[in-house]
Amino acid sequence: MPDDAAVAVVYTPGMKARLTPLAAVIAGGVFTALASAAEAPAAPSMKFSWVENPDATQVGIRTLGERTIDRIGSALIMEVERVLTTQGLDTAVEELHLKNLKLPRPVDGKPRVVAMKRTSLRIRNPDNAPDAADMAALKLVAESLGGDEPPPKVLFQKVETPDAPVEWRVYRPIAVTEHCLLCHGKGDSLQPSVQSAVARHFPEDQAVNYSAYDWRGLIRVSITEPMSRAN
Ligand code: HEC
Repeated sequence: MPDDAAVAVVYTPGMKARLTPLAAVIAGGVFTALASAAEAPAAPSMKFSWVENPDATQVGIRTLGERTIDRIGSALIMEVERVLTTQGLDTAVEELHLKNLKLPRPVDGKPRVVAMKRTSLRIRNPDNAPDAADMAALKLVAESLGGDEPPPKVLFQKVETPDAPVEWRVYRPIAVTEHCLLCHGKGDSLQPSVQSAVARHFPEDQAVNYSAYDWRGLIRVSITEPMSRAN
């Protein structure tokens, strides 16, 4: 898939017809606002801040994050398409998403991706619950949507925890496409096999009642430097 397929797009009325699936999922300005917010688990010792004016090293880190997110976004879309064409919906619910995705191979002396996450204000899998820093990113996107602004295409955050290297987090908003609605669409319109599989595996599910092009959540990549920098 060409790189520009992942470039964020700004909403225009004819957009749906022109979007590639990835551009639709990793899109800026297309999402409609959201409803309820999940509680962030407390992490009192964690400090986080937005990186407003990144230096050259930080720009490199952010770029690594954005490229990795593009790859994760493509993998997510391709996997959904593959699973939906090859499996029954109940098995598909068990298989998704990205359970076997590997972190990029680290390169000596370069920043490395240490974690990948998908999170949302409405989660299906409690493992994806936002922590305090994730929640700040989710709220920032929610607020820009609430104010009818295009959401940020990328968010770049510095997270400091005692006795751990600085963690740089890169986030990107993702949207829901038609394919996603089979499992994240209106609750009463979901097929019975999806409803029962979701109820069995995710009794606390909140990730339904989306419409196509709604904002779904964030893909996040965490990066550390080869040697921890103080700032
Ligand atoms: C066959 C059902 C199915 C389809 C189709 C599907 N999902 Fe999911 N989705 C799930 C399941 C099951 C989970 C919870 C498991 C996990 O952590 O991935 C989930 C979780 C997620 C999460 C993580 C946050 C959370 O709620 O736990 C995101 C983000 C997500 N889906 C986005 C999408 C997008 C975007 C699409 C369309 C490209 C899509 N899903 C299509 C079943 C599905």
